[in-house]
Amino acid sequence: MLQEPIRINHLTLRNRIVMPPMATGKADRGAPPEKLVAYYAARAGATGLIIAEHAYVSPEGMAHGNQLSMAEDSLIPAYRRLTDAVHAKGAAVFAQISHAGALAQDTGTAPISPSGISVWARVTETLAMSEADIARVRDCFVSAALRAKAAAFDGVEIHGAHGYLLNQFYSPLTNHRTGAYNGSTLEGRTKLHVEILQAVRAAVGEDYPIAIRFGAADYKPGGSAIGEIPAACRIFEKAGADLLDISGGLCSYTIPGVSTPGWFSELTLPAKSAVSIPVLLTGGIATGAQAEQLLQEGAADLIGVGRAMLKEPDWAVQALRG
Ligand SMILES: Cc1cc2nc3c(=O)[nH]c(=O)nc-3n(C[C@H](O)[C@H](O)[C@H](O)COP(=O)(O)O)c2cc1C
Repeated sequence: MLQEPIRINHLTLRNRIVMPPMATGKADRGAPPEKLVAYYAARAGATGLIIAEHAYVSPEGMAHGNQLSMAEDSLIPAYRRLTDAVHAKGAAVFAQISHAGALAQDTGTAPISPSGISVWARVTETLAMSEADIARVRDCFVSAALRAKAAAFDGVEIHGAHGYLLNQFYSPLTNHRTGAYNGSTLEGRTKLHVEILQAVRAAVGEDYPIAIRFGAADYKPGGSAIGEIPAACRIFEKAGADLLDISGGLCSYTIPGVSTPGWFSELTLPAKSAVSIPVLLTGGIATGAQAEQLLQEGAADLIGVGRAMLKEPDWAVQALRG
């Protein structure tokens, strides 16, 4: 199955191998330099889809220094070089757009978050967002998505995993709000995701692929739970998502103490049972045989291979050769 094409909205991928977003810290004032373009091109040889590393939608949402930015129109030509280089190798490429919320660093201002609650101990001070802040962040996601489209990315992924801002809204541990975006109902916890998905859809058009990286479980007491996944995924599909990229929530991209290849399959299985859009599984998958087995078992429709592809740029070529 790994070599079979798959459709995401109107886009057909040549196979089901995905390079998931992995921050390199190589950006030059927010732009991808030539060495980063070469890095992505080197991994595009037989890969179906590359999801480029997270890019912040506004400077206040920057997660780390030397992170890519999607916050300025002036960056579009530099991204165009990246998308051209990947397309020349036959792969599709999405931009991942993100706001770090409480995890923002080096921005010169106090990070904002749903309820003024820190995610990791290293960032202690964070300000609870007003509804005006929320509307501004939503608009920044829309502008960033339009820039990605203008730079010839084949789609855009909204980052809602690994403890970043949208994940902070989703997790009951970090969303203690009352009112519209409240942390006590699934509707409240997913309201900002829905607003962003709908607003991005209205801006980019019906045919343009939109993915959401969903931090589907926190693996922490009192955090988001596996039982909520089907309902949440149906909400995202209805709001306009074309691809569900499942990963961890406040636990980030691993499950403490678990090293089974495809460790998040217990999250993708309930997601797949709930929606008809494709589901992407990433985490600990290092060989083509492991990827094929997870597809055969129905754990996902696409397989993400991160660190193994980081180490071996020709991973996809070798996996397809068997
Ligand atoms: C160095 C590094 C940077 C990462 N940066 C991002 C990122 O920018 N956005 C994101 O959603 N996930 C990020 N991740 C998580 C990966 O996309 C992936 O989920 C994780 O590496 C697990 O897959 P693997 O076991 O195949 O590496 C990063 C992971 C690593 C190791």
